[in-house]
Amino acid sequence: LFAGEVEFLKGVVAMSGLPPADRAEVCFAGRSNVGKSSLINALTGRKALARASNTPGRTQEINFFTAADSHYVVDLPGYGFANAPVAVVEKWQRLLKQYLSGRPTLRRAFVLIDARHGAKKVDEEIMSLLDRSAVPFQAVMTKIDKVNKTELERSLAVTRETLARHPAAYPELVLTSSEKGDGIETLRAIIAGLS
Ligand code: GTP
Ligand code: MG
Repeated sequence: LFAGEVEFLKGVVAMSGLPPADRAEVCFAGRSNVGKSSLINALTGRKALARASNTPGRTQEINFFTAADSHYVVDLPGYGFANAPVAVVEKWQRLLKQYLSGRPTLRRAFVLIDARHGAKKVDEEIMSLLDRSAVPFQAVMTKIDKVNKTELERSLAVTRETLARHPAAYPELVLTSSEKGDGIETLRAIIAGLS
């Protein structure tokens, strides 16, 4: 899947701008700064395909990438705190929710959880939305290079407990580091297996 070229297709700011729903699609959701854009870069082996930054609220559009013509890979704006004006944030949050509940070809949503924090209340709100919309989702721990074993175990426990409350959740979590490459092959294989 990611062996061929992955290209940026378009940034979408309204539901009317979505590309035709004509192929399988996966998306990356999560709190601002959790590492969505970095993970897409790691998956595609392209350092700056999706723009990543230290400022929460970097990604403000729904960005579509095409992977070897077989899937759309979608980078979403974050939820939770963002370094942007309230009105702007509200607009993109509304779009995010519309997208997550109204995209027929969305095969799986990856919900990214920071390994330092575990699942939070805002994550749980998105998970509930995905339950209601019957979008299967899988949790992905990010930045595992930033925690020790004890911290990781604690976040995992909290996250597993949260997932257990959500019928649309896959029980298996993927542990990743975009920095070090952990879990990237696993995630590629999962995406390649969806059609
Ligand atoms: P928004 O678009 O603002 O919602 O953020 P995002 O979720 O796309 O996060 P982004 O990929 O921009 O990464 C945020 C910050 O975390 C950047 O400074 C990244 O370099 C850093 N980061 C992302 N993934 C990892 C990781 O696996 N390990 C470490 N150490 N840092 C990471
Ligand atoms: Mg981003």
